[in-house]
Amino acid sequence: MSKPDHFHAWVIDHYLKDGLDGSELHWESRPLPSLKDGQVLLSTCLLSLDASNLLWLSEREDYLPQLQIGDIMRGNIIARVGASCHPAFAEGDYVLTIQGWADYTIVDGDALLGDRITMKIKPHADVPLDAYVGTLGITGWSAFIGLMKVGQLKAGERVLISGAAGATGIMAAQIAKAAGAEVYGLAGGAKKCQFLKDTLHLDDAIDYKAAENLEQTISQVIPEGVQVFFDNVGGEILDAVLPNMCINGRIVASGSVSQYGHAEQYGVKNLPLITSKRLRMEGFLILDYLQQINDVLATMETWLLDGKLINKNHIIQGLENAQAALPKLMTGGNIGKLVVYVGNEFD
Ligand SMILES: NC(=O)c1ccc[n+]([C@@H]2O[C@H](COP(=O)([O-])OP(=O)(O)OC[C@H]3O[C@@H](n4cnc5c(N)ncnc54)[C@H](OP(=O)(O)O)[C@@H]3O)[C@@H](O)[C@H]2O)c1
Repeated sequence: MSKPDHFHAWVIDHYLKDGLDGSELHWESRPLPSLKDGQVLLSTCLLSLDASNLLWLSEREDYLPQLQIGDIMRGNIIARVGASCHPAFAEGDYVLTIQGWADYTIVDGDALLGDRITMKIKPHADVPLDAYVGTLGITGWSAFIGLMKVGQLKAGERVLISGAAGATGIMAAQIAKAAGAEVYGLAGGAKKCQFLKDTLHLDDAIDYKAAENLEQTISQVIPEGVQVFFDNVGGEILDAVLPNMCINGRIVASGSVSQYGHAEQYGVKNLPLITSKRLRMEGFLILDYLQQINDVLATMETWLLDGKLINKNHIIQGLENAQAALPKLMTGGNIGKLVVYVGNEFD
């Protein structure tokens, strides 16, 4: 690959306050220095837009170091090694990593090897690259680990998934079905609910936006109660599900997307039911499970090639369009994972 002189990146202008105003990031072109010994040039193939982007854009300490104003925005990317001065990386290798929202990045090869986040991947020729950030990527692994390891899901159990038409939800729904569970989804709007029933073959789907009393609607649709709740949303949705949990039920706290980017956090009122219903509620971070991921990835790749999983992503073309797509994370404007193909001219 001939090395470009400049790279383009989205840089943090200000933190998000109460929702996105669309000007949190600005587009910059910066000179790309020459590679030094031990360094690797990454050419970004695609950027995954995730709910965690809203956390990283907030002025709030999280599980990764706080980004500063003027820093390049952070994201999950798949990149090809464009050039390497490090023995562990060769031109053409693919990595799944967390780096900046940039078309090219120069990184220290030792840092990549030691960050416990970066993985080398060998994309299968019959699988689109975007599957490796969704179906076969962090959202797919989170759904698998969350349901099977944290939720201890067994065949025949009744599972409810919130944010079921989002990236993680779609995968949780498919994995729960593949595991032989009775699967219900919560999603906003008739179109998403239809997709969950018709395409993913869920037992039923509840349009939480159309429900006048969500707690009651859930009890009508799942009268025997929920045994495993895979919660992507938190807040009011969690409050409505808690009274519908069975005794000894499990709640997998995948995330609280309804609360991200909001200064005021919703106070869940039904938490005392955790005691009276003897519930187990457990959070997890997929980053803690990356050592086990090769096995999960191999299983899921086979399921995808066998047609047991579908790869459903919402594709955006061009890194320059990434910021404009970000609000979809808050409005639910995507079915499946939001993926931005970068389209590097030197690839
Ligand atoms: N624990 C982990 O390691 C891990 C890893 C990856 C992701 N996650 C978590 O998984 C969750 C989903 O992430 P994602 O990447 O799948 O995001 P996503 O594709 O944007 O899906 C999230 C869905 O949540 C729904 N939603 C958003 N705001 C809502 C609200 N106020 N009330 C009800 N539903 C709302 C939206 O659909 P509707 O149109 O249906 O509202 C949206 O499609 C996040 O909480 C994220 O932190 C956790």
